[in-house]
Amino acid sequence: MERGELDAALAEEIRARTLGEGFMKIVQTVRRNGKTFRISMRPVAIGGETRYQAEMVDDGTVRVKNFDANGAAEGLEEIIAQKGARDLHLMTAKGDLHVRVTRKGHVMATRSAEMDRVAVVQPHDRVKKTPLASFNSSALLRVTGLADGDGRIRASQRGKYDQVNEFLKVVDDVIKDEPGDRPFTVVDCGCGKAYLTLALCMYLAEVKKFADVRVVGVDRREDVVAAASKMAGQLGLDGKAVFAKADLTEFDLAKFVPFGCDEAISIERADMVVSLHACDTATDEALARGVEWRARYIVSAPCYQHELQKALGGGAAKGAQAFAGLLRHGILRERLCDLLTDAFRAQLLRILGFRTQVVEFVSPDATARNILLRAEFGVKPGQAAAVSEYLDLRDFWQVTPWLETRLKGMLEKHLVKYE
Ligand SMILES: C[S@@+](CC[C@H](N)C(=O)[O-])C[C@H]1O[C@@H](n2cnc3c(N)ncnc32)[C@H](O)[C@@H]1O
Repeated sequence: MERGELDAALAEEIRARTLGEGFMKIVQTVRRNGKTFRISMRPVAIGGETRYQAEMVDDGTVRVKNFDANGAAEGLEEIIAQKGARDLHLMTAKGDLHVRVTRKGHVMATRSAEMDRVAVVQPHDRVKKTPLASFNSSALLRVTGLADGDGRIRASQRGKYDQVNEFLKVVDDVIKDEPGDRPFTVVDCGCGKAYLTLALCMYLAEVKKFADVRVVGVDRREDVVAAASKMAGQLGLDGKAVFAKADLTEFDLAKFVPFGCDEAISIERADMVVSLHACDTATDEALARGVEWRARYIVSAPCYQHELQKALGGGAAKGAQAFAGLLRHGILRERLCDLLTDAFRAQLLRILGFRTQVVEFVSPDATARNILLRAEFGVKPGQAAAVSEYLDLRDFWQVTPWLETRLKGMLEKHLVKYE
């Protein structure tokens, strides 16, 4: 027997567990020369029959293939015959088997206690490739620190990884009618460590095949902008992903000096403005900038906003009085104010000519900040229904949303008509 080879009894146990009743999933991860290869196989239902779906992840590139039972048995032999250090995890309804082969070729097998799980065969299309798995994102994940040196998503970064993935899914849907053959500029407001900025740049170029993408990340913190700029260089995105150290309230897209450059550049308009948890009113500033820069698309996952909380805190407003029993509880007041703030934001965008939807973008278990506004310019601004709904809500609560004040000049003519 070669070093690291599985003995006959263990190999037979793996075959019996995988090809027998109650099989759920087998995953083998191999690490070689600093790269990670992972193969997993699970039963799936295709046209009423059981097939086996294999997913191969080779240093960040994902391939998925379906096999019949014979193909699965052949694939399993390759898994069993794999050389080198590796981990294997096999799940069946009755329990788990873990096999670990060390660099020195020691084989260690551990078995869980007997279980009583139900092995459900899922439809084959249940697992769709996530945006970050649909191109070779290994360098991006490593450089941004979302993944460790072995390409595994760090436990501490799982939340951000999911947020970026889900954000990209929304962007993908929003731009589905974009031809992609003309220059496309995205501004990420409050880009922070640029997880989203860099992912967007690569996703639009590599998956959506946009011919000429430019992404601008804006943040007031010099340290994050410097780090983001360095990462863009490491990923070969110089000139495509640029960063500006600026407060959003002062940032001038028409004339700014990208971090690390000597010369100013000028961008006439943004095609898309995004923001992911830009703090407090920075979300409103991002929306306002999206409108002012004549963006066709605005995609924004808001952060908490404190403005309304202050306004409703005193309980003086008519609406606030009727809601006294709710507003006395801090957590309920906070949630209500967040919902109202997002409703006002969506409504103001509608008034300004954007088809606007408010959707949930990540699970509420992951973060309470799981709401996302997606807006696409294309309806006549100032429509009566949008204006009256806005005024009814605003006047009921007797507050002036921050975004209304910020965009007063643009909104006045629409609001005044009905006030
Ligand atoms: C919670 S972080 C989110 C960062 C990033 N979008 C992400 O999801 O990882 C918010 C970022 O917005 C930036 N920010 C807040 N207000 C800003 C403003 N007025 N102008 C520019 N940046 C701002 C902060 O410096 C911070 O980096």
